[in-house]
Amino acid sequence: MCSVCSAVDQHEPIQRIASWLHDARSVVILTGAGISAESGLATFRDPEEGLWAKYDPMELATIAAFNRDPELVTRWYHWRFTKARDVEPNPGHHALACLEQRLATRDRSMTVVTQNVDGLHQRAGSKRVVEIHGTILRWRCTKTGAEKPLDEVSFDVFPIPSEHGGLMRPCVVWFGEMLPEQALAETFDALEHCDLFLSVGTSATVHPAASFIEVARAVGAKTVEINRDPTPISEIVDCAAHGPSGEILPQIMNELGQLDDS
Ligand code: OAD
Repeated sequence: MCSVCSAVDQHEPIQRIASWLHDARSVVILTGAGISAESGLATFRDPEEGLWAKYDPMELATIAAFNRDPELVTRWYHWRFTKARDVEPNPGHHALACLEQRLATRDRSMTVVTQNVDGLHQRAGSKRVVEIHGTILRWRCTKTGAEKPLDEVSFDVFPIPSEHGGLMRPCVVWFGEMLPEQALAETFDALEHCDLFLSVGTSATVHPAASFIEVARAVGAKTVEINRDPTPISEIVDCAAHGPSGEILPQIMNELGQLDDS
């Protein structure tokens, strides 16, 4: 096991991760808010700036908060939605999309399991993306569950009434709600068949995502962390590369390109 590597010496872990990707047959990549940080989207645990700085995202992303103050929570999600829509995928997202394509040409599989609701993996070109916390890019009625095309949701009044007598809410998973069954089933299927698991840009603190690494370890997969900072899983992964994912992931792709060509 390599030690948690210092910011100045990332070459060895990057080479090691690239060689594991070169040999892997089935890869699962768990992503969190950190991978979108370099696109300009705030993570959950870094302090926010501006309008919403005084609110704790962990307290707004709950069913209890929505029931108590639907106007505040809807305004916050509308703001997050406009930010997600207005930013671009960064080199970290693009590297993962490129990795998926590269593995596919060699008949290898890759699944991105993301806790993010911003749609940036798909916009970068990733095809197999499981959104375990839902998406902010779709909204539905609280009463009927009916989804409405975004261009038909009016963001002029908060909370947003639906024509069925309920309110419109984003199709995200809030604390206090169940994760989507289908997404969980796809995740566990991918985990149970993987031989390499990467945790990228997540604090690895929110379950069940935080325990996916245990499933991967139980089936004998190698485990990797790519994160700006150490996390609770840094000590148990087989290799950790610490730095911005928008820099580390493209470097891994460069190394992988050399291995694939050799
Ligand atoms: P967090 O905000 O908890 O953690 C973000 C992680 O990304 C931290 O470990 C940072 O150190 C790291 N990070 C920040 N910038 C980075 C960069 N440029 N490159 C690499 N890593 C970077 O976000 P999540 O782990 O995604 O759930 O949070 C998990 C869940 O908790 C979220 O999906 C959300 C939240 O409450 C719900 O809303 C249900």
